[in-house]
Amino acid sequence: MKKFLIGTAILFIAIQFIDFDVPANLHTDANQEIKAPKEVMDILQRSCYDCHSSSMHYPWYSKVAPVSWFTKSHIQKGRTVVNFSIWESYDDEKKIKVLDHLPKAIKIRMPLNSYLWLHEEAKLSDQDRKMLSKWADELKFELE
Ligand code: HEC
Repeated sequence: MKKFLIGTAILFIAIQFIDFDVPANLHTDANQEIKAPKEVMDILQRSCYDCHSSSMHYPWYSKVAPVSWFTKSHIQKGRTVVNFSIWESYDDEKKIKVLDHLPKAIKIRMPLNSYLWLHEEAKLSDQDRKMLSKWADELKFELE
């Protein structure tokens, strides 16, 4: 039993070194942030920004491996799909693609379930979904 505990402890410490680097905060130009009505910004910031912006606010345990591997992978992938902090640097084609996918994404899997377990406050209400979808459709229409 003692050996097992020591083994587990060593393993736990060892995996802390297996890590890949995803900066929690990227320095991006504030002018490039998406501009949306306050009601929409509130929802984006509350429910999406941890994975789709240049700044994330995760609790300490998400920095500990193996949880950190998932967190970082979500952030890395999420930012690649869309980083709302650099929205204005995207061309229309990219913006339209994101806006086009957004209503469906928030209906079926955004924010990710594994994230919602720890972030109850990020859950979207039906009204939030309606507001985001309407906003995305209108913005897409303007760009097309
Ligand atoms: C826990 C991290 C996380 C949060 C929070 C999150 N996303 Fe994502 N999102 C991802 C990841 C990772 C992907 C890419 C992989 C995938 O589609 O599962 C993604 C993909 C997307 C896509 C592209 C989907 C597609 O089909 O191309 C859209 C649009 C999107 N997210 C919008 C949002 C919006 C809007 C919110 C807030 C309501 C949100 N996400 C919250 C991690 C997150």
